[in-house]
Amino acid sequence: MRVVEAFRAAFGTDPATVWHAPGRVNLIGEHTDYNDGFVLPFAVPWGVTTAVTPRDDSTVRLLSLQHGDPVTIPTHEESRGWTRYVVGVLATLGDRVRGADIAIDGDVPQGAGLSSSAALEVSVASALNDLHGLGLSPMELALISQRAENEFVGMPCGIMDQAASALSQEGQALFLDCRSLGSRNIPLDLAAHGLRILIIDTQVHHEHANGEYAKRRAECESAARKLGVAALRDVEDLAGALSQLQGDERKRTMHVVTENHRVEALVGLLRAGAISEIGALLNASHLSLRDQYEVSSPELDLAVEAAIRGGARGARMTGGGFGGSAIALVADDRLESVRDSVSAAYAERGWKQPRFLPATPARGAHRLS
Ligand code: GLA
Repeated sequence: MRVVEAFRAAFGTDPATVWHAPGRVNLIGEHTDYNDGFVLPFAVPWGVTTAVTPRDDSTVRLLSLQHGDPVTIPTHEESRGWTRYVVGVLATLGDRVRGADIAIDGDVPQGAGLSSSAALEVSVASALNDLHGLGLSPMELALISQRAENEFVGMPCGIMDQAASALSQEGQALFLDCRSLGSRNIPLDLAAHGLRILIIDTQVHHEHANGEYAKRRAECESAARKLGVAALRDVEDLAGALSQLQGDERKRTMHVVTENHRVEALVGLLRAGAISEIGALLNASHLSLRDQYEVSSPELDLAVEAAIRGGARGARMTGGGFGGSAIALVADDRLESVRDSVSAAYAERGWKQPRFLPATPARGAHRLS
């Protein structure tokens, strides 16, 4: 394993344990997690592998195969870029972790909105949990990782990405109730139905994404306060709620409430073995994210429209939005035509070609050796 070789070369010893944690795509349930709602992500085949060994002192040394020479872990104030995620996890674990040498290797496509940051956090948290015998559950590790991102990176994300990375099972999607944190793995038997999920990475990431994310979150919280509910998850009478709201808050509420219903409907179809029928829900989710939640982008919209024109059974943006990736549900015999349709649409506008990646539901965080 590459990370083990690099570990030996840098630290002169074998790692005590090696863990892998994946990135994710979200099948449906977008911008619902921080509204105490439902999500249905699954882990992707790419992730972050972390090799660790304990040290006698309290020093933490860190090597990333993607970022060059080992560094002694910087303080919170000094940390920049990728080290912030690791510093955040270490700080959140606090006194429970002592000195360690850590090597990290990742292959989540960067900037594709496939949660490379959650993969990094959960991978490091899982490896340290094992190393120090902390006995934390996968959900506890996800919560620690989310806190690291909220407090140390300053991204006010919900729990979806970290939970998907920590709890997913191969061949299954993770149905998560973001209030109770109860979850169920739902079989996603694409191949048996001659289907696949194609990731269309627009390779565009708009700079204002984080600011807009925080703004959406604040709008939802404000709407919930006006409606006298703990979170938008609690809205039962949608028409009644909408009549009490205006402007953006009205639109955001419309999205969140209907999206939660779409998640439940999609889970119902999967449980009934009707995976080929989920396309309409994917399409409806995209329209709602585009028009009500206003987090799509021209590149995502075009990917979705062209995929459907090319014969996809359904398509939608996935993740936070403002760039990143779309997913399309495609029958095996339509794969070429969907790709051609999207490529041609991008070429016609003179845009940089998107990247196509296969999304096979992979296993969540696990020990490699
Ligand atoms: C980002 C966040 C998640 C979630 C999605 C939108 O990926 O990290 O917590 O809110 O956006 O569904």
